[in-house]
Amino acid sequence: MEILGKTNPEKVIELLSERLAYERSGVKLYDAILKKVKASRHTQLKKLQKELKEHRDQEVEHAEWCEEQIRALGGDPELETEKSLLVETEAQGLEQIIFSDAPLSQMFHALNLAELGDNAGWAQLVGLAEQCGDDDARAEFQERLEHEEEHLRLTHRVLGMFVRAEVLEGEMA
Ligand SMILES: [Fe+2]
Ligand SMILES: [Fe+2]
Repeated sequence: MEILGKTNPEKVIELLSERLAYERSGVKLYDAILKKVKASRHTQLKKLQKELKEHRDQEVEHAEWCEEQIRALGGDPELETEKSLLVETEAQGLEQIIFSDAPLSQMFHALNLAELGDNAGWAQLVGLAEQCGDDDARAEFQERLEHEEEHLRLTHRVLGMFVRAEVLEGEMA
């Protein structure tokens, strides 16, 4: 991201630190959900384990990629920034649900919200790269946005499954 990086390196590092905090939190959410799904008797969800694991691994790759980019711009990926702190605070509510004994329907509700934010974050970066004409950065951001779209499709589908069962089939979550 040569062009974008040169435009305002400090602010770009800050934005990447925001994404990094988000991606790290995403990995934690997926790990906790995968554990619960594995232990559950929910056959439909158990079939999705492979896909969920793939999405979890993509969050890991996103975090590692952000770390690399921050370092390449002369930043420190372990340093907290205003935006990384904001994301960590926002994520506390989601983590509180996912690390509790909440039913899987509530966990996926929280994960779906996390993925909405994940999509919005990468879409912001794509837009920013476009605006400063950084094609390389745009392609890198776009590649990850496409993963996020896939993540959101899955959480949306699972959420729909629960809602349908609760509303139309009268099942308890
Ligand atoms: Fe992500
Ligand atoms: Fe995601």
